[in-house]
Amino acid sequence: MTFQSVFGADPDIIAAAPGRVNLIGEHVDYSDGYVLPFAISSRTTVSIKKRPDQKIRLASAQRNTAIFETSITDLKPKSDGKWERYPLGVIWVLGIKEGLDIYVDGKVPLGAGLSSSAALECSVATALNALFNLNLDLKDLARATQRAENEFVGVPCGIMDQSISLMGKAGHALLLDCRDLSTKLVKMDLAESNLELLIIDTQAHHSLVDGGYAERRAACESAAAKLGKSMRELSLEELEAGKSKLTETEYRRARHAVTEIARVVKCVTALESKDFDLVGYLINKSHASLRDDYNVSCPELDVAVDAAIAAGAIGARMVGGGFGGSAIALVKQSEIEKTKTAVMAAFASNGFKAPRFFESLPSQGAELILN
Ligand code: GLA
Repeated sequence: MTFQSVFGADPDIIAAAPGRVNLIGEHVDYSDGYVLPFAISSRTTVSIKKRPDQKIRLASAQRNTAIFETSITDLKPKSDGKWERYPLGVIWVLGIKEGLDIYVDGKVPLGAGLSSSAALECSVATALNALFNLNLDLKDLARATQRAENEFVGVPCGIMDQSISLMGKAGHALLLDCRDLSTKLVKMDLAESNLELLIIDTQAHHSLVDGGYAERRAACESAAAKLGKSMRELSLEELEAGKSKLTETEYRRARHAVTEIARVVKCVTALESKDFDLVGYLINKSHASLRDDYNVSCPELDVAVDAAIAAGAIGARMVGGGFGGSAIALVKQSEIEKTKTAVMAAFASNGFKAPRFFESLPSQGAELILN
């Protein structure tokens, strides 16, 4: 399938945007924190053509089903739907008033915690920004796509995934200050140090804990309100001093946020000085904090992390929202196969579905392909 075969014409514009892996800085983007993600090579490509009427038609290479059709005047936040809500949310948030034919080819693995949704939103936003000469910069686009997901789709996500999908640079992780979206590129040439980052998709998704993300976010917000400081401004000492004002859950959620933000800062220095043992140590600490204080890991993620470390990985942790999805392991190039074998064996002996493995170098963020 192609745009031409579905809609019988050539597109006006084509744009692509990648998924992401977050090296460190998990569940702190909505707490004004720092995060250190990079864009992966898997990307979603979207082809768009303007229509002379107000219809919006959507098709996807991955969903060999009928064309989804609606009208620009019928776009309503939080309406039912599936993947179509993501591009529709971006059209809505950007205030587009003309009809469109849209064809999506999504190559970011779905449900793997690698942000296929941000890749979809950001590819559509990049294309529409150029097609309608909106002149939005990358920060504007990141905020707009986050709003599309928060207000139109109804997912209370932070701003990390959209920002890195738009701003990623090959060979670099991106230190992103989630308070003002200022950035610093951090060189991440793992191959030069004979290392690789293995992505382990656990293929698990625990729908039982839907709503768990919103609960974590709310706990950090109420802790910040009670202590009068954002997680970003709070020191561990201040948190300990204010412990009695918080519930036990708020305290543990806040302890994760405060320590994780500090780990991101240390990790940047470690990467810059190529101290990968320290990077690995920080990654391991991040996982323990997400597992024990933030309670967003799950048995499959813990087994993946533990098996990778037992097989010799320098560091491993869950990435993304948690409750399933992917883990990353920082591994010596020569030990990649050994690590994969160990993780597969551990999954088999726990009776889990076999994991999938990906490897990706830090890649380029969103770009126009045809303009
Ligand atoms: C999801 C959200 C992000 C971020 C991560 C956790 O991917 O979309 O905004 O909060 O979880 O770090």
